[in-house]
This record gives sequence, structure tokens and C-alpha cells, in this order.
Amino acid sequence: MRIPLIAGNWKMNTTVFEAVKLVNDMKSRLDAVTKVEKLVCPPFISLSKISEILKGTSIRLGAQNCHFMEKGAYTGEVSPVMLAGICEYVILGHSERRQYFGDTNEVVNKKIKAAISAGLKPILCVGESLQENEAGKTGEVVTNQMRGSLSGIEFNPGLVIAYEPVWAIGTGKAATGKQANETIGLVRRTLAGLYGEKAAVEVRILYGGSVTAANTTEFLSQPEIDGALVGGASLKPDEFISIAKQTAAL
Ligand code: 13P
Repeated sequence: MRIPLIAGNWKMNTTVFEAVKLVNDMKSRLDAVTKVEKLVCPPFISLSKISEILKGTSIRLGAQNCHFMEKGAYTGEVSPVMLAGICEYVILGHSERRQYFGDTNEVVNKKIKAAISAGLKPILCVGESLQENEAGKTGEVVTNQMRGSLSGIEFNPGLVIAYEPVWAIGTGKAATGKQANETIGLVRRTLAGLYGEKAAVEVRILYGGSVTAANTTEFLSQPEIDGALVGGASLKPDEFISIAKQTAAL
């Protein structure tokens, strides 16, 4: 019922030239993978060019962040209205944004509201730090992030949640499938509390954090996990395509 989503977060990697090459290297093979939604999220500067390259394919395009205002005197920022004509998704509340750029739950909440009103589908990221994990606070942190980030926002069918434990991002130390499934189950119950059972059954919840071709099946075979938000491995065409293909085969 929930179509799996395999999303690549390229983060601050690739020049425009490299981004074009990367997407061209993957395009036809990734396009050919059915039964899975495929998404790439390159840096802002490459979005426009890549949207042209992806026209007519089944590969979706997303941004990695946006501002919460539509326009105005916010030097250096990119508004959701600017993105709406080019991409379909926007990643919001990524732990790197929370850690380095002051994206608190309040800020993320404003960004989600703005993204939805511009017609973008938000991918809300939540996840606990190593310290919080070791203190047994995973559930509390993740539910607080969800409640805070989604406060006052009506259910939107385009909403996607990504559970990304901070200690698993870029470290090669992925969670286990069982751990991720447990927390994602809690994310779904939190959604049910906020929006009702029907909404909770519809929303796709992804796992992110050191996902590779080698551990894809471990995560994607879990009943609560509907896809992956892939960082490093999404910059390697063969690896990313293998993740999408393995997901389709499950
Ligand atoms: P890695 O896959 O490189 O661990 O990154 C995960 C991530 O942060 C995706 O948003």
C-alpha cells in the first residue's frame, strides 16, 4: 500500500558539472527500476539543470532545505516558492541543519508550513544523538521532534518522515534493522496520535544512516520501514541503483 521511497541526499557535494555527470550516469538505469519511487536531492545550485535532465523520467527531484518566507530581504536564502516550480520534495530538519544552522523544532515547523503551502512535499528528519541514545532517550527525543516540528500543521498526504539516528549518519555504524523498525514503529504511533490511524498507515517513514547496498535488505525488509534516505551511497551510481533495485525486489 505504501510505495517505497529511495531518496539520495547529496548534501554539500558535487559541482554543477559533477552533479550533471552523476545524474546522467544513473538516469536510465534508475528510471528503469519500477515499484519504487526514486528521488535525488542535489545542492540548490544544480536543481534547475537537473530538473531539465530528469524531465520525462520517473526520477523525482528534491531540495535539501528551504527558508520559511516566500520572498524578501533574506540574503542568501532560497524560498519554497522558488523551489516549487523545479522540485517536488524538500528535506527539512536534517540533523546537520539542526546541529550547524540553528534549525530548531520551531524553525523546522515554520519551514514545513511554508513548504506545504508552496506545494512541496516535506521530508521531516528526526533522530537522536549518541548521548541521547545511550541515555535511553530515543523515544522521547523523536516524539518531541515530531510534535514540535508538526505543531499546528494539518495532515498532508505528501508528508514523509525520515528517522536518522545522528550516531549512524556518515559513521558506517548503521542501526540494526530491528532497532530502526522499533523506533519507526514509535514514529508511526506518534503520527497516529497527531493525525489518526488512517494517516499513520499512509505516511511513508524512511530509515537513514549509513545505508548501503550491503544493508538495504536488512532495513527494507522490516515491516515499518518504507524506504531509505541515503547520504554517501547516493553519490555512487552503482550503489544507489542497487539499493533501489533491492528494495523493488522485496
Ligand atoms: P549517510 O548515508 O552518509 O550516513 O547519510 C545519511 C543521511 O544523513 C541522509 O540524509
